[in-house]
Amino acid sequence: MDIFHIEGPVQLSGSVNINGSKNASLPIMAATILAPGKSVLRAVPHLSDISVCGKLLRQLGCKLTRGPDGDLCIDSTVIDNPVGEYEIVRRMRAGICILGPLLARCGRAEVSMPGGCAIGDRPVNIHLRGMRELGAKIHLKNGYIIAEAPNGLKGKDIFMGGPFGSTVLGTANVLMAATLAKGRTVIESAACEPEITDLANCLNKMGAGITGIGSPRLTIEGVKELQPVEFEVIPDRIEAGTFMVAAAITAGELRLRNCRLDGMMAVVDRLRNIGVTVDAEGDGCVVTRRGPIRPTNITTQPYPGFPTDLQAQFMVLLSLAEGNSVIIEKVFPDRFMHVAELSRMAANLRKEGPAVIVAGVKTLIAAPVMASDLRASAALVLAGLAAGGTTVVNRVYHIDRGYEKIEERLNPLGARIIRESV
Ligand code: EPU
Repeated sequence: MDIFHIEGPVQLSGSVNINGSKNASLPIMAATILAPGKSVLRAVPHLSDISVCGKLLRQLGCKLTRGPDGDLCIDSTVIDNPVGEYEIVRRMRAGICILGPLLARCGRAEVSMPGGCAIGDRPVNIHLRGMRELGAKIHLKNGYIIAEAPNGLKGKDIFMGGPFGSTVLGTANVLMAATLAKGRTVIESAACEPEITDLANCLNKMGAGITGIGSPRLTIEGVKELQPVEFEVIPDRIEAGTFMVAAAITAGELRLRNCRLDGMMAVVDRLRNIGVTVDAEGDGCVVTRRGPIRPTNITTQPYPGFPTDLQAQFMVLLSLAEGNSVIIEKVFPDRFMHVAELSRMAANLRKEGPAVIVAGVKTLIAAPVMASDLRASAALVLAGLAAGGTTVVNRVYHIDRGYEKIEERLNPLGARIIRESV
């Protein structure tokens, strides 16, 4: 198991290229199931979650290769085992999004119920409701979702809202299933995240009939078949947001290349409110902080609201603000595993239900800390950049799930991070 030794405080400067989006890549990889043949996906990042998804697709019968230029080729000519094993889906919940494509293509799917998760309760009831609305028969057996539609799926008007708003992977799942259903499907209260827009654009390139892309009402005219595709995934807005916080927390200046600000306005708005300068430049932006960190309030929401996947990173930044901030988590109300770890580094945090009151402190102090999930561990790395002394982050495998060789990308910018295998 790897650990990080992070020497701080440092000031970052320089330029960094933002990689393709993990959360766009995962459902798009699943979408290749819908079209027998060879699809080529560009800009899919080299991450452990992507490898796990690849393993899942291989078990179904797909063949995967990486070209010399990094392109991911998925040959889905043969799908002879429509089963998503527990061993894989429990490690990566996005595995659930093979359910819709398998049902649409094979008329049957068995996918493990994902199970527990460090960021809180993550049910899949809305995914299943959507599949049932499309005519699938679903039951649970030995921890597996058994879904059957031997005569194909049928389009319908479906409401996909839940207690916390829309669902990203639920929308992806039903959207993919509906592309090959007979007739028209309308998904109302669809997720509007840029990753869903990217998936819908990819599906249309494969021959699907989706309109209303980017809105909460998606209309899908079912087609008989889809074709394999060549498609480049969008840049990762959460990785970009994490580097923005890295610039801000170290009072540095970073140039982010391949970064689309138009999907990040809620994030940019909060950064400017905090006193961070974000200027568009070329295909990206320049992020600078010169003055003090000002306190602010943040409420996470589905897109276009502030993303839950940047909540932990902003909590670290606001820990060093000149005053008190409140962060309210409205997507995953229990996603606060980082609070106890950041408190070990002298952050002054008080959790009140789905909110955390962040009282700004002058400095963070290095400590050994434990990564609990992907974004929480990114927050600990950011804290380590700003804290005086050597922060040791355990369980770095969490961060490898979503950030490609983060230390090799931060060190040329001025960070001092050593990875050690223990
Ligand atoms: N929900 C239900 N029922 C469902 C599905 C969701 O009640 O059937 C609830 C969830 O419990 C949660 C809310 O709806 O309270 C939103 O969850 P959503 O389904 O949108 O999350 P997800 O699709 O499982 C994706 C990302 C997450 C990201 C969330 C929210 C991928 C692979 N995962 O998860 O990313 O936090 O959307 O934006 O796209 C990460 O990258 O670190 C990560 C966790």
